[in-house]
Amino acid sequence: MTLIDRLHRGVTTRSAAETRTVAAELSALLPADSALALHGDLGVGKTTFVQGLARGFGIDAEVTSPTFTIYTLYRSSSGGPPGFTLVHLDAYRLDSAAQMEGLLLDDFLTTPYCLAVEWPDKIAGWLPEGAWHLDLALGASGSHSLRLRPALGL
Ligand SMILES: Nc1ncnc2c1ncn2[C@@H]1O[C@H](COP(=O)(O)OP(=O)(O)OP(=O)(O)O)[C@@H](O)[C@H]1O
Ligand SMILES: [Mg+2]
Repeated sequence: MTLIDRLHRGVTTRSAAETRTVAAELSALLPADSALALHGDLGVGKTTFVQGLARGFGIDAEVTSPTFTIYTLYRSSSGGPPGFTLVHLDAYRLDSAAQMEGLLLDDFLTTPYCLAVEWPDKIAGWLPEGAWHLDLALGASGSHSLRLRPALGL
């Protein structure tokens, strides 16, 4: 079964490292210029997942939760696609899609890129239509779960 099929059924991870590995593997399967909406409550592993994406895209910089910024841009340095940008957006402090206008984020979504969004429901109307939606949750006895929603139109 492919990773995408497994993610549609739901994948359980037992450590942050395992979540990063799943994310790194997924990074290779994402279409060009994709958007990935990471749904789930505090501490379910959204930022951890973005760390794995970054590793998969050949980004050496450490990915952290943006505390004072809403988004962070990471350029791949080692072996990733040339000129590639990972855009990590944390919408937690935003209240509406309208607030996205002022951030001028569109200017940074130049090909090739991947946009990863934490708290996507805060800016639901702004997300690209083709965004992939991943639900993250805490499972039993310390595990975490990842599940990819069916693509729209399927
Ligand atoms: N299987 C797992 N997958 C992901 N994270 C795990 C797992 N097991 C333990 N953890 C730990 O859970 C925490 C997840 O925190 P993380 O910052 O990734 O969550 P978040 O969803 O981004 O939270 P927030 O909503 O506050 O931004 C980390 O400390 C990580 O090490
Ligand atoms: Mg986070």
